[in-house]
Amino acid sequence: MTVSVVDLRSDTVTRPTAGMRRAIAEAVVGDDVFGDDPTVQALESRVAALAKKEAALFVPSGTMGNQLAVHVLTRPADEVLLEAESHLYFYEQGGIAANSGCLAHPVRGERGVLPMEPLVAALRGEDDHNARVTLVCAENTHNRAGGAIVPLERLQALASMARARKLAVHLDGARLWNASVATGVPIADWAACADTVMMCFSKGLGAPVGSILVGRADSIRAARRARKRWGGGMRQVGILAAACLYALDHHVARLAEDHVRARRLADGLTGLPGVQVVAPDTNILFLNVESPLPDANTVVHAMAERGVWVSAYGPRRVRAITHLDVDDAGIDRAVAAFREVLLGPVAARR
Ligand SMILES: Cc1ncc(COP(=O)(O)O)c(C=O)c1O
Repeated sequence: MTVSVVDLRSDTVTRPTAGMRRAIAEAVVGDDVFGDDPTVQALESRVAALAKKEAALFVPSGTMGNQLAVHVLTRPADEVLLEAESHLYFYEQGGIAANSGCLAHPVRGERGVLPMEPLVAALRGEDDHNARVTLVCAENTHNRAGGAIVPLERLQALASMARARKLAVHLDGARLWNASVATGVPIADWAACADTVMMCFSKGLGAPVGSILVGRADSIRAARRARKRWGGGMRQVGILAAACLYALDHHVARLAEDHVRARRLADGLTGLPGVQVVAPDTNILFLNVESPLPDANTVVHAMAERGVWVSAYGPRRVRAITHLDVDDAGIDRAVAAFREVLLGPVAARR
């Protein structure tokens, strides 16, 4: 008998369920570049309504959604304020500069929250020496802060500061579903803090592909044009939109199970000598492993030998993410493997 791997590297690794595959097979499709795909249109209208925004655009990836948002909310040589560990700054290859000709100004946050004082200090005013600061980007939940939830009141404060200074706000809500389920705050309340919001279906919601950008009708129209220019116009893409609609019907509320499992994993590892467990807000768990314990890469390899895949997130930081394809038994296997790797095989059995 082969024992399956417990894959905790990311919530992007999920495979479509049987029900989702049926929805894909039965999707009614048309050419979406011609505006003819009814399933894409149904998805876009549904998410625009959910976020209480005028319009929505289906895009192939979260990265494209983020990049389009920056593109439509800025002009070349504008300055964009964003959190120093945000996906937009950290993981998008300088796309802000390459795709929109903008200057990224990173501001160090605390658990993903942009602090107000340095943000305001970064607004240098109308001097001919200065770039024009026109956009602030926030991320919720914040990936590199361990799936941390940026509290609604902090986002609201950011939005009122930005509005008072005529700055646009983009929210990278790749995992906004997780923040919403964990807090009970509806998507529309978070979205009210931003001009545009990007949300992913291909992470905790378990769809194979797809993200969406919501915002004002004129912004989404401009994003649609840029998406085509960037090669992201898709044809009978209702087969993917059908998976996303299925995910909205079946996989949102269940994110709470992923959050419980992340906590269960955290509880199983709390108290191990030399291991600092960062209590998870949602589905992302960070373990900081101190010397003389093995470093993160060594832990990752030793875990893989035991059939549990996790990632190194720094020299001494290990990341594990729970998702649709991990059950309680998988978490128990992960706890046992971590204990063996971090305590040694004999001590782990005690
Ligand atoms: C917070 C956040 N934003 C954006 C993205 C980009 O999504 P994609 O991988 O679909 O481009 C990710 C991907 O992990 C993410 O974690």
